[in-house]
Amino acid sequence: MASFLSHLVFLSLALLVSANGFTVPLKRVHRSPGGLLAPGHADVPVGNSHDFSSVGGQKLGVILDTGSSDLWVVSSNCTGIDCSGVAKYNATSSLSLSSYNFKLAYLIGTVSGSIGFETITLGSYQITAQVFAIANETRGLNLSSAGNSGIMGLSFPLSAAIPATAGKTILENMFAYFDDAHRFFAFRLGRSSDDSTFSFGQLDSLLSNSTDDFTRTAVYTGTGRHSTLDYWKLPLHAITLNSSTSISSFTASRVPGSPTPIAVLDTGTTFILGPTKDVDAFWAAVGASRKLDSGQWEVQCTRAVAVGFVLGDEHTKREYVIDPEDVSLAEGSPEEGWCTGGIQASDGVNSGDWILGDAFLRVGSNVYVTHHGATAHQPPQIGLLNLTDPHAALARFQSERGHDDEDPITGHPQVYSHQDRTHLNAPAICGIVLVSAFIVGALVSLVAQWYMQHRYNVRKDNTMS
Ligand SMILES: *[C@@H]1O[C@H](CO)[C@@H](O)[C@H](O)[C@H]1NC(C)=O
Ligand SMILES: *[C@@H]1O[C@H](CO)[C@@H](O)[C@H](O)[C@H]1NC(C)=O
Ligand SMILES: *[C@@H]1O[C@H](CO)[C@@H](O)[C@H](O)[C@H]1NC(C)=O
Repeated sequence: MASFLSHLVFLSLALLVSANGFTVPLKRVHRSPGGLLAPGHADVPVGNSHDFSSVGGQKLGVILDTGSSDLWVVSSNCTGIDCSGVAKYNATSSLSLSSYNFKLAYLIGTVSGSIGFETITLGSYQITAQVFAIANETRGLNLSSAGNSGIMGLSFPLSAAIPATAGKTILENMFAYFDDAHRFFAFRLGRSSDDSTFSFGQLDSLLSNSTDDFTRTAVYTGTGRHSTLDYWKLPLHAITLNSSTSISSFTASRVPGSPTPIAVLDTGTTFILGPTKDVDAFWAAVGASRKLDSGQWEVQCTRAVAVGFVLGDEHTKREYVIDPEDVSLAEGSPEEGWCTGGIQASDGVNSGDWILGDAFLRVGSNVYVTHHGATAHQPPQIGLLNLTDPHAALARFQSERGHDDEDPITGHPQVYSHQDRTHLNAPAICGIVLVSAFIVGALVSLVAQWYMQHRYNVRKDNTMS
């Protein structure tokens, strides 16, 4: 292994270092309607199809996943159905192959191959001898349907399957390029196929021009002997319904020592997932809902409710309200009048208790999140900027979906501090309205197999041989 470590030199093109970060468009890739209900079809939330990344000079689209930490791409030796038809990596003269194998098991599939080192570019940044895995076999990941060649994990080294002794993760190497103030990345996840971006070292100017807009909280690590920095996660204090009631009594956290449930932010998951008991209680409180035999929750499409997640530590906790469109997903509903719940039960999450996937992270209307790397003065942090106006979102939802005949939610209001953006200027508002206007039609919240979608961070079974 020592011989590989000697290759770890970070090379930057002088010209590019002066460019402080980058923002690139991302293409949201979605399944064809015919594939919606077919078992084994995996959802691929954010793909990169704008050629901003390359491996050994070859442009390969990868899924950007904040719920895992390895970078891997399929090689030309990958000949199975799962990886057919996607661009494949061919060995170059800059490749240095190790004798170590790589195997990563996700809930619905696996990937295996070898570990090597190659020159990687991301936007205008280049890393030489980046450790990565070259997959000669993938199963159940359904790369071919979305045309992705691999996954780029953007979580912490501790959750990587490639051992830390082999080399730094791509995120560590990228963070090393940026000064303290710019050591962060962010996604703007839109609702249609072409209104998403990924930014490194800067913000998407459509949404914000200053990290001061955000409420920042240290990534939850626990304390003492339980202290672990593995995923982008925060304490969850309560879930509010229409600001009129709130659920704050949850199943005990599976994270050792944590007094509250822990929520993991994950672009690799479509839905919001939580423990069965809590999710069942949530839908019972919403009303006009039903649980199918498969365990999937549905809600009457006219049920208008603004759901808020109260996140942060004791000093920073705020309510982040999500759009009713993300609570009740209209696309692809199998039965008239019933919509798929944006919040679903899963007891298979082991990175935390709740996973806040795209249904939460969609900034077309919900929240804009920054992921900050550690500096000499502070640990990694998550910045949250609420973008929802719950009243406007509810009014729009009601005018689109029609009258709700069921009883309204009643309860005892509990007031949580709200994190509001205070200085939206007119062009930004127009932009946001345009973004949220795409809502229906285009995509994402593809019903079916919701339980598969947390594959990037559940039951991750890392084995090295
Ligand atoms: C994939 O690569 C590994 C390690 O290089 C090798 O042991 C395995 O036989 C290969 N599998 C296939 C299907 O080519
Ligand atoms: C950020 O700055 C740019 C350029 O001045 C401006 O066009 C944009 O509206 C600003 N964005 C926000 C959210 O204020
Ligand atoms: C949520 O609030 C809106 C606006 O106040 C109201 O019209 C709607 O009926 C409420 N929803 C439920 C399920 O009570």
